[in-house]
Amino acid sequence: MKQKRKGNISDMKISKNGNIFSIDNGRVSYIFSVEKDKYLMHRYFGRYINQYAGSAQPFFFDRGFCSNPDPEDKRFSLDTLPQEYPDMNQGDFRSPAYIIQTEDGCRVTRFFYKGYEIIHGKPGLEGLPSVYAEGENEAETLCITLEDECLQAQIRLYYTIFRDFDAICRHVEFINQGKQEIYMERLMSTSMDFPGTDYDLLTLSGSHTSEKNINRRAVSGDSVVIESSRGCSSPQENPCVILMDKESTEYQGQVWGFNYVYSGDFQAVVQTGQYQTVRVQMGMNPQTFGWRLGSGQKFVSPETVMVYSCSGLNGMSQTFHSLYRKRLCRGVYRDKVRPVLLNSWEAFYFDIHEEACLSLAAQAADLGVELFVVDDGWFVKRNTDRAALGDWREDREKFPGGICSLAEKIREMGMGFGIWFEPEMVSPDSDLYRAHPDWIIRSSLYDPVLSRTQYVLDLSNPEVCDFIYQSVADILEKTKASYVKWDMNRHITDLGSAYLKEKCQRELSHRYILGLYSILERLNRNFPEVLFEGCSSGGGRYDAGMLYYMPQTWASDNTDAVCRLKIQYGTSILFPAITMGSHVSDVPNHQVRRITPLSTRFAAAMSGNLGYELDLRKMSEEEKREVKEEIRFYKSIREVIQMGRFYRLKNPQRGNEAAWNFVSEDGRTVIYCYFRILSDPLSLSFPVKLKGLDPDSVYRLEENGLCYGGDELMYAGITSYPEKGDFSSHVYVFQKIK
Ligand code: DGJ
Repeated sequence: MKQKRKGNISDMKISKNGNIFSIDNGRVSYIFSVEKDKYLMHRYFGRYINQYAGSAQPFFFDRGFCSNPDPEDKRFSLDTLPQEYPDMNQGDFRSPAYIIQTEDGCRVTRFFYKGYEIIHGKPGLEGLPSVYAEGENEAETLCITLEDECLQAQIRLYYTIFRDFDAICRHVEFINQGKQEIYMERLMSTSMDFPGTDYDLLTLSGSHTSEKNINRRAVSGDSVVIESSRGCSSPQENPCVILMDKESTEYQGQVWGFNYVYSGDFQAVVQTGQYQTVRVQMGMNPQTFGWRLGSGQKFVSPETVMVYSCSGLNGMSQTFHSLYRKRLCRGVYRDKVRPVLLNSWEAFYFDIHEEACLSLAAQAADLGVELFVVDDGWFVKRNTDRAALGDWREDREKFPGGICSLAEKIREMGMGFGIWFEPEMVSPDSDLYRAHPDWIIRSSLYDPVLSRTQYVLDLSNPEVCDFIYQSVADILEKTKASYVKWDMNRHITDLGSAYLKEKCQRELSHRYILGLYSILERLNRNFPEVLFEGCSSGGGRYDAGMLYYMPQTWASDNTDAVCRLKIQYGTSILFPAITMGSHVSDVPNHQVRRITPLSTRFAAAMSGNLGYELDLRKMSEEEKREVKEEIRFYKSIREVIQMGRFYRLKNPQRGNEAAWNFVSEDGRTVIYCYFRILSDPLSLSFPVKLKGLDPDSVYRLEENGLCYGGDELMYAGITSYPEKGDFSSHVYVFQKIK
């Protein structure tokens, strides 16, 4: 069965037919209805339905223990029906999408359907990151209003469908039009009830240095909660839930991906209901969220991106990749290839000096590096990780000529200059902390807990945000840096703010993130030429929220090539290679002491945004020649890696091999990377089948001029003959010749 390949404006429509809303773009449909003029019932999210005549309708049936909001109809109970945005206290005892409390402590609400509006394009979310549309023709948005007449409050549910992407974005607004204050205790951006329970659940979990492990298991008869209360999206759990038909694979079957465009605490719930349904929710983590909504105020939730694929997990990833690359990332670097950089961290750690930087930079420039990044340790008294965060002033002992002159000299070598900050933090041993002990996150009662000998600044306080903005902006102005690495190396404990009123303390987690976003928005606006790279001890805040402000992220502090294969493979479930910072580092590797060949370290790092993070001066002449050649090669193909389509072929998280291929946007160039992790005496080697090629075209393998049909490469596959020894790899470049 063929799907329509490309949407156009006439394919993208939102319609209301009787009590049924239908949202589609010619490839996916999303359908729900209004029942009894009041209640929203979910009906369908999946492959495009041309003419929906009302199937998959909610099944009304009188069952035991069912509450009946309509006293005349015992078959109608919210507990047994698929909801669109469920509340509690009307008989649905599954997980509610929201909980509100009134001033007198009442937690019962009655929000009913009131009306709808169709908006051309996609409205932005004030103060929050979001996927965007360029022009009204690219997207259409449905806004449904629910109202509670007693509370005089409204909920607005937003759904955006895109012309070019098989994704729907959802977020909600709460509007308090009444006189009393209402208190929000729970707030999900999305809730959806799936029929049946025959699904697998896939999540990305991990830890520092072992991010994005692909975790697939059966949905079972109870609830799974995926969450972070660490003050950031976290390396432990990514805000992502993927539901798959049980038989779905990498390239076949139905997959529904949910990803939260937010960088702070979150909760996702996958709940099996008593009548064999699965409820998926994604939103704020109620453990750390609470919000007082005063009279006349509005609360805007972060958004969830929901992707449907009928071509397996890879189809879902490709939609996330293209949507995020083209309509989440912003700025001049959105459509620009990214520079090859050298980062000073694993070369020097804190022992960083002007002279060493300049000689390393000269070496880097000679080998073709385009950007020299001074990592941690460049500012005054920052000789260990125990001091000086917050004092963003250059260290004249380490840099006698000053950081500006260093930047200038690096530019004279033909490279850009980049610099590291960890602006959200402060060391107890710092002038900043001594001057403003009340600027940190802490309770009023206890000594706050340290982590990496640092505290977290209270970003709910606008004065703190101004300070952070100004500190970074001053250095950017002075040094004319073209790149910033924005780090965040601890999680948040002791939630308490000297700035927020007592009754607003529970707002701190979300206000922290809003403060962070406001700083980043200002920096983006005032320094549009600067490339920002996010980092949180590696991939600890690698989320869609940060990508809106920073189009790339340092994927992990683990730079070992073998570990990186696994981490980058897992990362690719959601994020495109162009967003993935990946560096060639020294051997033995600093995290795991493994010795891998330079060619394999390169092949792993070039599968993302290539950088180097080692002292190139210490390499042999032969190794330097190899690095020079590899950088030259990467530059010749990086557009394919960074802008092309990505196909996962062999999963290193499960086996001894890793393989993937990239296909350029125009389909002309194919880069295929193969890795064999451990050698074995039998040297078994099976063909790997490439993906995304044209079966009727012929492709020339650059290294030897041999020509293969696209059908041959995809159906029979290509066999690699890895060299003897562990950790071997091979990168193939094919050009389409006819
Ligand atoms: C953690 C980062 O992930 C590293 O790359 C490095 O920048 C250090 N912080 C510096 O403290």
